[in-house]
Amino acid sequence: MCERGCKTSFFVKTEIMVSFKVEKADYHLAMSLMKERSSQAISALKNRNGLGSDFLGWLDLPVELAKIQNDLLETASKLRAVSDCVVVVGIGGSYLGARAVISALGNEFSSQKPKIIYAGHHLSEDYTADLLDYLNEVNYSIIVISKSGTTTEPAVAFRLLRNHCEKKYGKKESQNRIVCITDKAKGALKSIADKAGYTSYVIEDNVGGRYSVLSPVGLLPIAVAGLDIEQLLQGAAAIRKYLFENEENIALLYALHRNYYLQKGYNVEVLSSFEPKMYYFIEWWKQLFGESEGKDGKGIFPTGLIYTTDLHSMGQYMQDGQRFMFETFLTLQQSNRSCKVPHDAENEDGLNYLADKQIHEINRAAERATMLAHKTGGLPIMQIEIDAVNEYVLGELIYFFEYACALSAYMLGVNPFDQAGVEAYKKNMFELLGKEGY
Ligand code: PA5
Repeated sequence: MCERGCKTSFFVKTEIMVSFKVEKADYHLAMSLMKERSSQAISALKNRNGLGSDFLGWLDLPVELAKIQNDLLETASKLRAVSDCVVVVGIGGSYLGARAVISALGNEFSSQKPKIIYAGHHLSEDYTADLLDYLNEVNYSIIVISKSGTTTEPAVAFRLLRNHCEKKYGKKESQNRIVCITDKAKGALKSIADKAGYTSYVIEDNVGGRYSVLSPVGLLPIAVAGLDIEQLLQGAAAIRKYLFENEENIALLYALHRNYYLQKGYNVEVLSSFEPKMYYFIEWWKQLFGESEGKDGKGIFPTGLIYTTDLHSMGQYMQDGQRFMFETFLTLQQSNRSCKVPHDAENEDGLNYLADKQIHEINRAAERATMLAHKTGGLPIMQIEIDAVNEYVLGELIYFFEYACALSAYMLGVNPFDQAGVEAYKKNMFELLGKEGY
């Protein structure tokens, strides 16, 4: 790890593709204030003896999963061969990781098949009816994901979709078109899968939903989308090695500064990206941190913004509203494609000062300008920088945030791996709907 100096920032550049930057003054204060809590957190994670230590299976997924990679690729290629579209059924941790990677690397305008669509992540009747109409017209298959195998939203969607699939293709052919990812022994989805003879993958007991993207939960849909899961796992394995070998690592620094800002009264973290393709990555991050930390009356409220779009809606508030949030910029150094502003002889729009510049260069200038403005406006700022968006880097970034989240929750004094609070609405809903036993 090397520290690259500039006057005001503390910048950590490592052998991995993710780097971390924070104000130098904050770094020194945070390090002295949070030192003890951060060493306790790192030792709890390293020795695997902190709160919820039964759920640390995610730490080893990048190396464990390499073993079933070929099997997943084979299943993915069978589904791709028979599908114009694949419906991924799941909610929360059972779908957000896959969606984050697929939309970060996808092309909205491409007609490439199969198209990945989602169901079971809400209870909208209109969406469901529209989806079933659409599925009348295309060849499709289904990946249904639920660790408990009993979550209402995906269970309702799967009942409808399975019914539709069996009517359209027959029970026998549906066996080639439905894949289940669930617990190895319990839950309704497990019994359905066994009885119907569907291909199944297991979510191990020691891997919680929001930490499962690097298990079959995320890997199968990502492979079906035609993306490189080997690179994703290699990226995650590379940062895992770095994090395991360096105690003062960038995940610890990020977790430590989050808790420092919280202690100073900043209760909200805004994760901002200037790349709209990162929208669902931010949604995944929100779920990871929100469900891991928001408990026992504690926790930083995680939210996100996509700039420059949101500069024209929330920009005013970020600059000038109440100061209860800190902002983390998720910076992308390079774009994957090139698109330059053309020169115009008439220059009627006055844009020739941008002629021959790449859009990304303009976007980076907007980002630097925003960071400076928000800093001047009194917001504490951190920056997580990646070179480019690809499978390898996303693998690193996913593992980075999972590791940082566990550390941050330990510093806060909560169990990062339970989510007892989610049960409250379920209990009320089951009562209202007259489910037996409620
Ligand atoms: O992170 C979690 O544990 C949750 O968000 C779950 O993923 C979500 O509630 C879905 O649960 P299940 O996979 O059991 O259907």
